[in-house]
Amino acid sequence: MGLVLGIESSCDETAVALVAHDRTIVAQAIASQDEAHAPYGGVVPEIAARAHAEKLAPMIAGVMGDAGLALTDLDAVAATAGPGLIGGVMVGLVSAKALAMAADVPLMAINHLEGHALSPRLADPALEFPYALLLVSGGHCQILRVDGVGRYRRLATTIDDALGEAFDKTAKIIGLGFPGGPAVERLAREGDPRAVPLPRPLVGSGEPHFSFAGLKSAVMRAHDSGLHRREDIAASFQQAAIDCVVDRLRHALGAMEPVETLVVAGGVAANQAVRMALEGLARKRDLRFSAPPPELCTDNAAMIAWAGQERLAIGGAADSLDVAARPRWPLDPHAEAVRGAGYKA
Ligand code: KG4
Ligand code: ZN
Repeated sequence: MGLVLGIESSCDETAVALVAHDRTIVAQAIASQDEAHAPYGGVVPEIAARAHAEKLAPMIAGVMGDAGLALTDLDAVAATAGPGLIGGVMVGLVSAKALAMAADVPLMAINHLEGHALSPRLADPALEFPYALLLVSGGHCQILRVDGVGRYRRLATTIDDALGEAFDKTAKIIGLGFPGGPAVERLAREGDPRAVPLPRPLVGSGEPHFSFAGLKSAVMRAHDSGLHRREDIAASFQQAAIDCVVDRLRHALGAMEPVETLVVAGGVAANQAVRMALEGLARKRDLRFSAPPPELCTDNAAMIAWAGQERLAIGGAADSLDVAARPRWPLDPHAEAVRGAGYKA
C-alpha cells in the first residue's frame, strides 16, 4: 500500500507516523516536550535535542509495532532535515538514515515547511494545485503560491516576528503559560476584541510583508498600563493579528497569478478565529477554502510522511545517505532575504 515512515524533530515535538499512499494515517505517535520547556518560557534547544534522542527510537518501534509492520514493509523513510533547531533535526535525520539503510529503501530529507505546505492535501484529497497558502507557525509567517510539489513561490514573509511567536509573546506578557497560542485563543473568547486599541502594522501598505513586533510592544504597553482586562487584551491582540493577516493576504492575492483556492497551514492555522476570518475572505473572493484539521496544523510527522508520498508520486529522487541537516532552508530558493527577518527568511 505504499507506506512511508515519517519523522519530525525540528522543534519541541517528537513525532513518528506511518502514512499510506491512499492518505491513511496507519499509525502515529507524538510526544510534546511542553513540560520540559515550560519553566524557561520557551524552547531550549539543548533540552529539545536530548529529549528527541531519548524518545525517538522507542517511538519508532512503538508505531511499527502498533501497525504490526516490519522495516521490510516500508517503501521510504522521510524525515525533517530542516529548517529548525539543528540538534533535534540531526537526531531525526540520522535515525531516518539508519532506518533507510537497514530497510534498503529511499531516504527522503524533507523541508519542514514543505510538510506544512502539503499537509492540507493529506487532509483534503480534492485540493489541487495551484493554491495560495498562508503558512503560519512559531518560526514562520509566509504567503506562498504553491504550484506543485517542490514548486513554491514566496510572496510575503515577516520582517520581524512570526505570527505564532507573536501569540506566544502575548501569552507571556499577560501571564499565560507556554505554549501561548492556544491559551490566548481560549482567553480571547471571553474578551472584547474592540476594547484595547492596538496597531495593525503594515495594513494598507504597498509592500507585501508582515510585521508583528510593533503589535507585541503595544500589547506590552496595554498590559503595563493596568487599564485593561487580560481577556480584552487577548481578544484585541487576536483581532489585530487577524486584521493584519487578512490585509496581507488581500495584497498577495492581488499580486499573484489567480488561484481558485486559499489554504492555511502551520500551528496558528489551528486557531478557530483565524480560520473563520480566512474562510470569510475566501467566500468574498469566490475562492475555495481548505485547512487541515487542527492536529495536522501543529507539528506532526504525518505531514512529513505525506511530503515523502508526494515526492514518490511525482517520481522525485531519493536523497543520499550523506544529506546534511539544514538549520535554514527557504522553501522558495529565489525569494529575497528580507531585512530583519533573521532565520525566518
Ligand atoms: O507549526 P508549529 O507546531 O511549530 C512550528 O513549526 O513553529 O507551530 C507552533 C506555533 C506556536 O507559536 C503556537 O503558539 C502556535 O503555533 N499555535 C497557535 C494555536 N495553536 C498553536 N496560535 C494561535 N492559536 C492556536 N490555537
Ligand atoms: Zn512547524
